[in-house]
Amino acid sequence: MDENMVTAIPAERIPRHVAIILDGNGRYAKSKGLTRPQGHKAGADNVETISDACIELGIPYLTVYAFSTENWKRSEEEVSYLMGLMRWYLKNYMATALRKGIRMRVIGDRSKLDPEMVREIEKDERETAHLTNLNLTFAINYGSRDEITRAVRAIAEEVKEGKTLPSEIDEKLINAHLDTSVLPDPDLLIRTSGEERLSNFLLWQLAYSEFYFTEKYWPEFTPEDLKEAVLNYASRERRFGGRK
Ligand code: FPP
Repeated sequence: MDENMVTAIPAERIPRHVAIILDGNGRYAKSKGLTRPQGHKAGADNVETISDACIELGIPYLTVYAFSTENWKRSEEEVSYLMGLMRWYLKNYMATALRKGIRMRVIGDRSKLDPEMVREIEKDERETAHLTNLNLTFAINYGSRDEITRAVRAIAEEVKEGKTLPSEIDEKLINAHLDTSVLPDPDLLIRTSGEERLSNFLLWQLAYSEFYFTEKYWPEFTPEDLKEAVLNYASRERRFGGRK
C-alpha cells in the first residue's frame, strides 16, 4: 500500500464501518483456469489482506458476507468445501487476530452450523473480545430476513412473558435484538464482481449506507481498490434524509 494511503483522506471522512459482499470467487477461478475451491481459497485469503488494509486506513469495523442462508442451495460438494474453509479459517486466523489486535465476531443463525464450528466461533469471540484495532465480523448462515424474523420472534416471546409492552417496541429495541446489536450501522457497502444487489445482506442496517460497486472479482480486490472506494465515499455528501 502506498504511503499516502492514510494521509490522503481526512480522518472524519473515513467510514467507521465497511460491509462487503464478497462476490466473484467462482468467476475469478474460471478466468484463471482454477477450480472453484481454489477461487474460494483465494477469496478467504483476501479477507486477511483487506482486514490489514482497514487497519492501515483507520476503519474500525469490517463485516464480510461469507455464507448466506441461500448458499445451502449450492452443490453439496461446494457447501461442504466452503464450510470446511470457514472452519479452517476460524481456527487458524485466531493467532493472526491476536497478533494484529483484531476482534472476531460471527453473525447469522448458528443453530444450523456444525456444533464443532459453533464452539470454534465462541472460542474466537471470547479470546479476541478485548481487542480493538479492528472489529472483523463474518456473516455465516446469515440472511437479513432470517435475522429480522428471529428478532421479531424473540420480541414476541418477551411480550408474551410480560417483559415488554407492545408500545415499547421501537427501532432501538428492534436493533437490540438483531445479530448486529453491538455494531454501528455500515457507512459503506461494497459489492464486487459487477453485481448490483443486496442479496439479503443487512437490509435493516444499510438503510442510510452509501453503496459502491466494482467490476473486480473479490479475490482481485486490492487494498488500492479499497482506498478508491473509500475516496469515493469520502467525496459524497450524506444527508440521512435531511437537507443541507
Ligand atoms: C461469492 O462467490 C462468494 C461466496 C458465496 C462465498 C464467500 C466465501 C469466501 C470468500 C470464502 C470463505 C470466507 C471466509 C471469510 C473464510 P461466488 O462463488 O458466488 O462467485 P461466482 O458468482 O463468480 O460464481
